Amino acid sequence: MVSIDMSGKNVLITGAGGGIGGGIADVFAKAGAKVYVADWKFENAQRKADEIKAAGGEAIPLMLDVTKKDDIYAAVDKIAAEDGRIDNLVTCAGAMYNVPYMKTTEEQLRTLLEINLISVNNTCQAVLRHMIPRKEGKIVNVQSSASREGHPLCAHYAASKFGVMGLTQSIALSVTGDNINVNGLCPGFIDTQLGAQQNSNLWDVLMKNWGKSKEEMMSVLVARDIPMQRLQTPEDIGYAALFLCSDMAKNITAQSLNIDGGMKLD
Ligand SMILES: NC(=O)c1ccc[n+]([C@@H]2O[C@H](COP(=O)([O-])OP(=O)(O)OC[C@H]3O[C@@H](n4cnc5c(N)ncnc54)[C@H](O)[C@@H]3O)[C@@H](O)[C@H]2O)c1
Repeated sequence: MVSIDMSGKNVLITGAGGGIGGGIADVFAKAGAKVYVADWKFENAQRKADEIKAAGGEAIPLMLDVTKKDDIYAAVDKIAAEDGRIDNLVTCAGAMYNVPYMKTTEEQLRTLLEINLISVNNTCQAVLRHMIPRKEGKIVNVQSSASREGHPLCAHYAASKFGVMGLTQSIALSVTGDNINVNGLCPGFIDTQLGAQQNSNLWDVLMKNWGKSKEEMMSVLVARDIPMQRLQTPEDIGYAALFLCSDMAKNITAQSLNIDGGMKLD
């Protein structure tokens, strides 16, 4: 039987107090990994870690604001000191504005670049300092279908996520000689709180714009845009992240995998 066993491995997941990050954390814990559940909303990180432990897994909650470089380095160095290494990193912290382009502000762009892009750069660099000397490690950066295609309501989000794709490819090619794989995942539509912090949750904005209930709106969206006719789940993203962090994926690097029910073909 072929299966993915992460026993004895650890993983740092940013934004793991949220929807997709939480799903990724659950999947890694079920595969036997020790999961560092990092989020700037510590109560959410704590709740997810408690859920994992109640289900028999191993999890440690971490308060981590990914816009604070010094805090990232401190958290990463502490994990490496305590465990002797970092095996896997999944960057999933994210934010979004859904605003017509001519109403966007430069401040919103700066906010999204800080949270969605610069944070990924800093977290990858902090972790790679420990992976490179060991000549081992796997990194997965959560991108988006908006890493491949712009949208009039989320120009700044798309700009940040295009950036994450370019950064992921470039980092991956920088460490090919170090036995380290760096890949991205592009989720389609998942029902989460993304953007709520910015008073700009996608589902709330669409409900307002379309004048429909969430269920009505989702069924229209699914029928119109998703060939497989279903929304994605946080666990869908978790299983893909687990595969990319496993030895089964040792020859996959610098790729971005769509997990969107066939919505994007590139
Ligand atoms: N939901 C979707 O349909 C969808 C689609 C494609 C990509 N994504 C991406 O998936 C990732 C997770 O989003 P989600 O949908 O689970 O949303 P979410 O809001 O449920 O989760 C995002 C998490 O990131 C955390 N976060 C935000 N800023 C942070 C910071 N400065 N430091 C640390 N943590 C911070 C939030 O507290 C939250 O827990 C994001 O990168 C998002 O862009 C989501």
